Order: sequence, then C-alpha cells, then structure tokens
Amino acid sequence: MSYSLLRPFLFSMDPEKAHEFTLELLEKAHKAKLLGFVYAQQSLPVECMGMVFNNPVGLAAGLDKNADYIDALGELGFGFIEVGTVTPKPQEGNQKPRMFRLKEANAIINRMGFNNKGVDHLIRNMRKCKYKGNIGINIGKNAITPVEHAAADYIYCLERVYPYASYITVNISSPNTKNLRDLQSGDALRKLLFEIKSRHLQLAVDYGFYVPLVLKVAPDLEPEQIEFICQQLLDFDIDGLITTNTTISRIGVEDLPNGNEAGGLSGRPVSHMSTMVLEQFTDILEDKVAVIGVGGIDSGDKAVKKLQAGASLVQLYSGLIYKGPSLVQESIQAIGGYYDTLES
Ligand SMILES: Cc1cc2nc3c(=O)[nH]c(=O)nc-3n(C[C@H](O)[C@H](O)[C@H](O)COP(=O)(O)O)c2cc1C
Repeated sequence: MSYSLLRPFLFSMDPEKAHEFTLELLEKAHKAKLLGFVYAQQSLPVECMGMVFNNPVGLAAGLDKNADYIDALGELGFGFIEVGTVTPKPQEGNQKPRMFRLKEANAIINRMGFNNKGVDHLIRNMRKCKYKGNIGINIGKNAITPVEHAAADYIYCLERVYPYASYITVNISSPNTKNLRDLQSGDALRKLLFEIKSRHLQLAVDYGFYVPLVLKVAPDLEPEQIEFICQQLLDFDIDGLITTNTTISRIGVEDLPNGNEAGGLSGRPVSHMSTMVLEQFTDILEDKVAVIGVGGIDSGDKAVKKLQAGASLVQLYSGLIYKGPSLVQESIQAIGGYYDTLES
C-alpha cells in the first residue's frame, strides 16, 4: 500500500500510537517477506570513518530506540541505521502525550525523554539482527543520573554496546533530559570526552578492533560554542559529528497548532538552521572529522544541500513521517546525481 494512502489514517491517530502502529505494520510486512518487493536496495557506496556504507542515507536515532525493528527498517533501503538513544537502565520517559504533529509545517515536536528498554534489551536485539548494513548505536544517560555523573552512564553503555556497533554516538543534545545540553560546553564537555575517550581507547585494545566514536549536537549553538566543540573534537580524536538534533527554537511555528508545546522541534522548520550549523562546523573541521547531516530533510534536494554543506552522510526522521519511505530512494537518487555533477 502506498504511504500517501496510509498517511490520512495514521494522521488520524495519536502520533505516538501511529508511530508504534507503523513499526508493527512494517515488522509484519517484513516477516511476510513483502518489503523486498516494494523497496529497492540502491547501491551508492561511500567510505566514511574507515567503513563502507552501501549508500549515504541513514535512519536517524530515536525512531527505533530499542533496536526492535532493525531488520524491517533495513529493508527500506537505508545505507545505515542508528538505533537508540539507549540508557543504562530502562526508563519510561516523560508523561504522555509527548509527541506532536505540526502538520502545516511538516514538523514534529517531541519531549519523549529517552523512553527505552535499557541497554541489555538493545544488545539482545543486536545479537539477533541479520541486517548487513552499518548500525550506529546512540547512547545517553538515565534521567535520574545527575548530570555531573553523566560520564558513568555513557561509559556503562559504551562498554556494553562496543562489540555490536559499527559506530557509537554520544548524544549530548536532547532538550528533553534535564541539563543534558550543558554537556556541550566548557569543562563539562572536556571532562566527559576525556573520560569517554580514555575508556574507548582501552576497549579498542581489549577487543582488537576500533569502533568509531561520534558526537551528536544541537542546532541551538552560538558560533563560539561551535568553535569550542570543534576544538574538543580534534583534541580528543573524535571520529564523527552528527549535526543536528532537534531545536528548542520556535521561530516560524509559534502561531501554529501545537507550536508552543515543550520539547524539541524537528522537520522542515529545522532544515535551514540545521544546515547552517553544519556548514559552520565543516568550515572549521575541514574534513578532519566525518560529518553526518540531519535535520529537516524532506526531499532529495535537501539531502544534497547537507552534502554541499560538507556532510559525508545524511540521516532522516521527520521527513519519513510526512513523506513515507520513498524519501529514502529519492534522497539516494538525488545524491547519486550530485556525485555525477562532481565527477563531470
Ligand atoms: C520523536 C523523535 C524522537 C527522537 N529521539 C531521539 C533520540 O532518542 N536520540 C537522538 O539522538 N535523536 C532523537 N531524535 C532526533 C532525530 O534523530 C533528528 O536528529 C532530528 O529529529 C532532526 O532530524 P529530522 O528533522 O529529519 O527529524 C528524535 C526525533 C524525533 C522526532
């Protein structure tokens, strides 16, 4: 069934229920072996962080927080999938409702609060999954852990996910966990990266293989903060940067229904701001750190804009809700066309 036919039905449901329903439907279609006929697996290999990605279009974190649906999602043609954010212990997240559509703006506001089944559950799924593409695992801290002790939660998750991940994302940019974004600045960031990176290097020695480490940042950053974060990425040899998470800004959506709900805004209104932030990072980083562009991609052109701004890979989330899985193929095709123009 085409997504445009399914969408009015999904949009008549509560957004979080629609999310769960869609994933269950996808899982059923996967088990019935229907997805392979519908969604092409387009190959557009790209090398990044020492790995080959079958194509540069990935699924952003937060859609499959527990890695429950990797095999089904993999059949939609993504070049890679990021699961999580996962925390050491399971947690309920914030009170419902906590996910809102801003239909007029093709946007979402969420304040989920890292609802997830905990890192042990995620690992059980990683052991079972058959997906052959790269899988990023996005890690965070439990809500009850004081932010001063955040490093312990990240390291707890890092140690457990290390052997299962193609890369590991340290998420310090969700607006829905109190004070989490404080970890993006000053001594807090330096201390966190020092502790995580020390453990990371030790894990690489213990396991005898290296899993790249990636930092995910918010779009709400001043130029001085961007400069500071770049310096830390270089100082601590961080392999990649994901830019960006959702925004706390409401510019352009204040007057829309749900526009003033608390939480992080994603989708079309974030696109330009997120790409501008991406460009500021890549201007400073000059290819020394791999950059994954995410935020407001809802067309092939917007995916290409992230690459033009310096990203090597892109990720999708809100655009999938509004446009459906065809956005994956559309993005891959547009990027393929962009690569051709670079070669000619
Ligand atoms: C409902 C929802 C839940 C999300 N949960 C997470 C999460 O757990 N961890 C994370 O790093 N990002 C999370 N994100 C942020 C997305 O991964 C992405 O960075 C952001 O939505 C911008 O991309 P988009 O405009 O394409 O949605 C979430 C986004 C949404 C809409």
